[in-house]
Amino acid sequence: MSRSPAAAPERFDAIVLGAGGAGMMCAAMAGQRGCRVLLVDHADRPGKKILISGGGRCNFTNLHTAPDRYLSANPHFAKSALSRYRPADFLALVERHRIAWHEKTLGQLFCDGSARQIVDMLLGECAAGGVELALGAAIGAVDHADGRFRVAFGGRTAEAPALVVATGGPSIPKMGATGFAYDLARRFGLKVVEPRPALVPLTLGGEEVLFRTLSGVSADVVARAGRASFREAALFTHRGLSGPAILQISSYWRHGEEIGVDFLPKREAGWLAAAKRSAPRTNLRRLLGAALPDRLADTLADRIGLAGDLANLPDRKLEEAERRLRDWRFRPNGTEGFAKAEVTLGGIATAELSSRTMESRRVPGLYAIGEAVDVTGWLGGYNFQWAWASGWAAAQALPRDDAAA
Ligand code: FDA
Repeated sequence: MSRSPAAAPERFDAIVLGAGGAGMMCAAMAGQRGCRVLLVDHADRPGKKILISGGGRCNFTNLHTAPDRYLSANPHFAKSALSRYRPADFLALVERHRIAWHEKTLGQLFCDGSARQIVDMLLGECAAGGVELALGAAIGAVDHADGRFRVAFGGRTAEAPALVVATGGPSIPKMGATGFAYDLARRFGLKVVEPRPALVPLTLGGEEVLFRTLSGVSADVVARAGRASFREAALFTHRGLSGPAILQISSYWRHGEEIGVDFLPKREAGWLAAAKRSAPRTNLRRLLGAALPDRLADTLADRIGLAGDLANLPDRKLEEAERRLRDWRFRPNGTEGFAKAEVTLGGIATAELSSRTMESRRVPGLYAIGEAVDVTGWLGGYNFQWAWASGWAAAQALPRDDAAA
């Protein structure tokens, strides 16, 4: 069969752009409903982000998935899809494929073996739905006329009444991530909420650079930004702050704002004053050393600067020191950017889409799913659950009666 551009386009019921988690789920489920689906990706392998996720074990969902664990200009948007395709539904699929899994912490489910099992599972589901996969295929022109979308890719042209944008966000460009979804959306007149790096390390400058000398030190903390707070580990890095607590808070942080870090989440309020009575001959540095890693205790004690035995320090000074330790103010000067961000905040505006089907209100037949959409989850399996749920929701709505040639 001729593949020349002049040849008649190949016809499908739906063309899905992007073979990541959302695109594969959508293509597989639509295919299994009887749609003739083409799944296109410029990468030579599908699901690259799945493969590197969760330290190679893929944190594929979170048992505590709920809409309030997602950020979006419209916090209600994710409710419908998340309630119709739940963590238990994905888990049932995982079990059907005999993939061993475990709960690590905080409802986070991981493969016992390898993230590759999740990619293989999704490819298996695509095969069961007769999905045609076109990998290593750069996407060229995307046109829309007479209710049909026409896509040029890898020297071929395909046409369908439905086009699903599942090309994700620009986080980690070296994995093949692009802002393609936004460009396409804008071309079709859809609004895009300004994309920003999220779940990303924060950088410290100015006089806070001294904390960089703690690179490699981690501690159990509560990190806060605005009204959001997360109790998990924070990690000092050679550029600033990272670790789960900081990554979580980064999604809520805005340039110019401070974050607060409680270094004493395990200690009762009034800990320092109580220590003055129970161990009057100890000093702040030694006391902090019992609660925190040594290098961190040194740095914090230096900054607070209360020398001498606790017995000789006024309660007022100890209370003030404790207040600082429970709400240490950092003013990050930036983030490590899209190069290091696990996800992208913002994206195709939810106001443009049906929350039930992910179809554009403005351009019937155009769908957007996964990270391309302005829905961003917490760290811990929430983003994949959104990819599965939004992909599944769109799949239920795709047409299947087109007279495919
Ligand atoms: P995704 O980005 O996965 O897929 C988009 C696809 O589109 C890619 O295959 C890409 O090649 C393709 N594409 C992009 N531009 C294109 C173009 N111009 N032409 C053609 N194709 C194009 N989440 C979670 O829940 N648990 C976890 O454990 C982790 N861990 C994790 C680790 C790391 C290092 C990162 C970077 C991210 C995570 N995440 C995560 C987040 C998770 O990976 C992310 O939310 C989902 O992969 C989003 O799925 P999508 O299918 O929407 O996009």
